[in-house]
Formats: sequence, structure tokens, C-alpha cells
Amino acid sequence: MKALVTGGAGFIGSNLVQYLIKNGVSIRVLDDLSTGYQKNVKDLDVEFVFGDVCDSSLVKKAIEGVDVVFHLAASVGRQKSLNDPRRDAEVNMIGTTNVLEAARQAGVRRIVNTSSAAIFGELLTMPIAEDHPLNPDSPYGVSKLAAEKQALCFSDLYDLTVVCLRYFNVYGINQRFDAYGNVIPIFADRLYKRLPITIYGDGEQTRDFINVTDVVMANYLAATVAKQSGVYNIGSGLSITINHLAKMMKDISGSDSSIEYAPMRPADVRHCRAEISKAKNNLKFSPNVKIEDGLVEYLKWFEEDRKVIE
Ligand SMILES: NC(=O)c1ccc[n+]([C@@H]2O[C@H](COP(=O)([O-])OP(=O)(O)OC[C@H]3O[C@@H](n4cnc5c(N)ncnc54)[C@H](O)[C@@H]3O)[C@@H](O)[C@H]2O)c1
Repeated sequence: MKALVTGGAGFIGSNLVQYLIKNGVSIRVLDDLSTGYQKNVKDLDVEFVFGDVCDSSLVKKAIEGVDVVFHLAASVGRQKSLNDPRRDAEVNMIGTTNVLEAARQAGVRRIVNTSSAAIFGELLTMPIAEDHPLNPDSPYGVSKLAAEKQALCFSDLYDLTVVCLRYFNVYGINQRFDAYGNVIPIFADRLYKRLPITIYGDGEQTRDFINVTDVVMANYLAATVAKQSGVYNIGSGLSITINHLAKMMKDISGSDSSIEYAPMRPADVRHCRAEISKAKNNLKFSPNVKIEDGLVEYLKWFEEDRKVIE
């Protein structure tokens, strides 16, 4: 099998690429390295195409001869999209349309499209099932929802199976701290520098964290097991409080960072947990990395990676 992984130099994409190679899949990566790292793929046996998913002729070339596309390239994150909604829309809507159209023209039959829990917006019921209302509250959520709808539309119109995976809070190896980072790399960075950790609100808000290893497995199952097009929540199906997360990370790291509290941020949701029975039933998806174990592995990697990067 030959696969194109867009965004393959990024956090989740590079983990997926490693897994696919181990399973005998021949890989081409398309990535503009805007948030990904060359070092994530440099020692891997991949054909690397540098460039932008908004460049339709490049996407056409990158898709030639592949059997399946894993589309992960995106402008990622709420805050980034508030700062630059136009670029967010270009990459996530036009970029995804380019991938779909090139796949259709090249006769590719299967696409695994990356969606996000950000498409739900305000959370009304818990746990969050696939049929929860979709009212995204950021340009990022809107662009990911539009991309998902476009992907499903292509699957209705053409002979194309499209499986959309709506990730919840993903963490794990190759997730680096940046200004728009998720809570786990932000806490890791503070603990590593022995600076105070800030928790917004009382810390009793909950999140569904899923290890990247489990997300990679969901992608593989979407490419190999899914019988038809559809959308799936990909989370752990469990949730923990931010207080618990901070305590676990502090204990594991042995850091003497203090924990401080700041006012709740307006857009923060109180509780978040994915309902994953659809993925369990249809994809045989079974997340199996316990958060305690995933955090031990992550913090060890984070410290080693920082020494290389700094
Ligand atoms: N990390 C999470 O918790 C999370 C949650 C929900 C959904 N997602 C989705 O997962 C996917 C991967 O995200 P990630 O967390 O690995 O982030 P990431 O930023 O590490 O990965 C994105 C990759 O896409 C590349 N890219 C960005 N714009 C591009 C463009 N115009 N052309 C080509 N390549 C481009 C980047 O260089 C990077 O390698 C994204 O589609 C994101 O929306 C992530």
C-alpha cells in the first residue's frame, strides 16, 4: 500500500508515518513545515514533498500513485484562527478541497480526513456523541466543519470512501510547546523551567485526553476496517480534571513548580468527554494508553527533546 500523509512532519502526522512504515506502507509526505519539523521525518524512509496544500497543482502531483490519503495538514488551533481567520480558511477549507479533488481525479478510493472536537462549539450534552449539535465558536471550528462537510459531500458525489476522525485533546511524543500549544505541553514547559503552572478557573473543569498512539491506531483502522464513509469521535472516552492533570504531571516530573490560579477564560468549556462507542463498534477502535503511562512517556521525551532543540 502507498499512502500520502499531508501534515506528516507535524505532531500527529509524524507518529502516523512511523506506524505506517512499520506496517509496510510506503509513504509520501506533503508538508510546508509551517508548524511541523523536518527532524520528525528526517530519519524515516519517506518521500518528502515540501509545499502547501493550497497549491492545487502540487497536491495533484503529490497524490499520483497513492492508494490512500491521510489528510492531517491544517492551520491548527482556536487562538491562531482568531489572529488570522483568512489563512485558517485557506488552508483548512481550500487545502482540503484540493486534496479531495486531486484524489477524485487520481482515482484514489479512500481518504482519512482529520476533523476536530472544535466543530461542536458550546457543549450541550455529555458525553459528546457524533450527533451533538455542530455550532463551532471559532474560525478554526468553522473551517474544520466546512472541511468535514466537503469531504462527506465528495463521498456522496463520487466513488470515494471518506472517514472523518474528530480528535479530542491529543497528547504525546512529538508534541512541542508553542504559543498556541495545548495544556499538556504548556504545563511540561513550565515544569521543565521550574516556573509556576497557571490553571484558569478552579481547575475542576474536565477534558478528554487521548494519547497519539491511540489516534494513530484510529487512523489505521479508518483506512483498513471502515466499510463506508462516516464521522467518528476519537477520544479516550474518559475525562480528568485539570487539577488532577497538573498534580500528575508535577509528581511525575519531580519539579518544584508551584500551581497558581487565574480567572476562567471566557471561551473555556466546563466539561468535555467523547462518546466513542460508534468508533468502537464500527472501527474496532479501542484506546488503550492510560493517561498516567502516557504522561510518564511524554515527560521523559519532552525533557530529552528540549536538550536537542535548545
Ligand atoms: N493536536 C490536537 O489535539 C488536535 C485535536 C483535534 C484535531 N487536530 C487535527 O489534527 C491534525 C494534525 O494536527 P497536529 O496537532 O499534529 O498539529 P501540527 O501543527 O503539528 O501538524 C500540522 C502539520 O500540517 C503542516 N501544515 C500546516 N499548514 C500546511 C499547509 N498549508 N500545507 C502543507 N502542510 C501544512 C504543518 O507544517 C504540520 O506539520 C490537524 O488537522 C488538526 O486540526 C489536532
